[in-house]
Amino acid sequence: MQTAMQIYVNGCFVPAQEASVSVFDHGFLYGDGVFEGIRVYDGNIFRLQQHVERLYHSAQCILLRIPLTPEEMRLAIVETVRRRGLPSQYVRAVVSRGAGDLGLDPRRCKHPSVIIIADTISLYPEQFYTEGLELVTVATRRTPSWALDPRIKSLNYLNNILAKLEAQQAGVEEAVLLNAEGYVAECTADNIFVVRQGRLLTPSTAAGALLGVTRDGVLDLAREQGIPCEETFLTRYDLYTAEECFMTGTGAEIVPVIRIDRRQIGTGTPGAMTQQLRQAFAKLCRNDGVRALPAAV
Ligand SMILES: Cc1ncc(COP(=O)(O)O)c(C=O)c1O
Repeated sequence: MQTAMQIYVNGCFVPAQEASVSVFDHGFLYGDGVFEGIRVYDGNIFRLQQHVERLYHSAQCILLRIPLTPEEMRLAIVETVRRRGLPSQYVRAVVSRGAGDLGLDPRRCKHPSVIIIADTISLYPEQFYTEGLELVTVATRRTPSWALDPRIKSLNYLNNILAKLEAQQAGVEEAVLLNAEGYVAECTADNIFVVRQGRLLTPSTAAGALLGVTRDGVLDLAREQGIPCEETFLTRYDLYTAEECFMTGTGAEIVPVIRIDRRQIGTGTPGAMTQQLRQAFAKLCRNDGVRALPAAV
């Protein structure tokens, strides 16, 4: 079984210490590029199709021509995962504008850089899942969707990082970002959901949420279970009065939220619907996707 980290750089697999991009790459100089974070569960690349689709849509929006077809990209990701060989992996696919000069002009960047890294994931501490997480709403607002559409998963995360720093300064692990109008958008690298009177509510992308792959999976599972779902506009009132709240993301999966702005949410313990969806999600992520390695027997 292969266990060294696998790194694909522009068509070649290179050892970690040799993997590099130019200091003139506009991904480095300007955050000009797009990326995906993808999980492998028991050899299954969870929702690879959706991740690749989102990557190409993000690239299309910033007029970045990825020098691989989506099928070639899928195959390159599968090959990177196969070489890594571990049943559980975290994969980062990055496409940046490539090397240009010090000016902004993207036309100077002739060759976009394509990087795929098959690493492992360091999960949130178990306690976050069993006891729940605390959030704080921060002063940093989500970049308005009329300025930069939140569906573009770009390399420019300063807005999210500022929010994360604010939460940490407040002694809390994670932040809730509101948009310019005061509607809840999302957390710094996760979507947010609330449960109200048996309904599952999550901010619409128009409110500033990324179209999360995990968010989509949770909505699919909830609908399958007959839970009414709504992608809508939420304010802090909806957070504070929620019966349950949780975050979703590729790295975090589904994390119960039990306190926001020092206020207890629901019973102050992970809620029943959150637990139910966590169990269903654990099954989904082993089966829904592209199998790169044989499943454990
Ligand atoms: C800003 C932001 N929101 C939400 C998410 C969750 O999306 P996904 O479930 O596709 O990982 C991410 C994860 O990358 C993110 O960066």
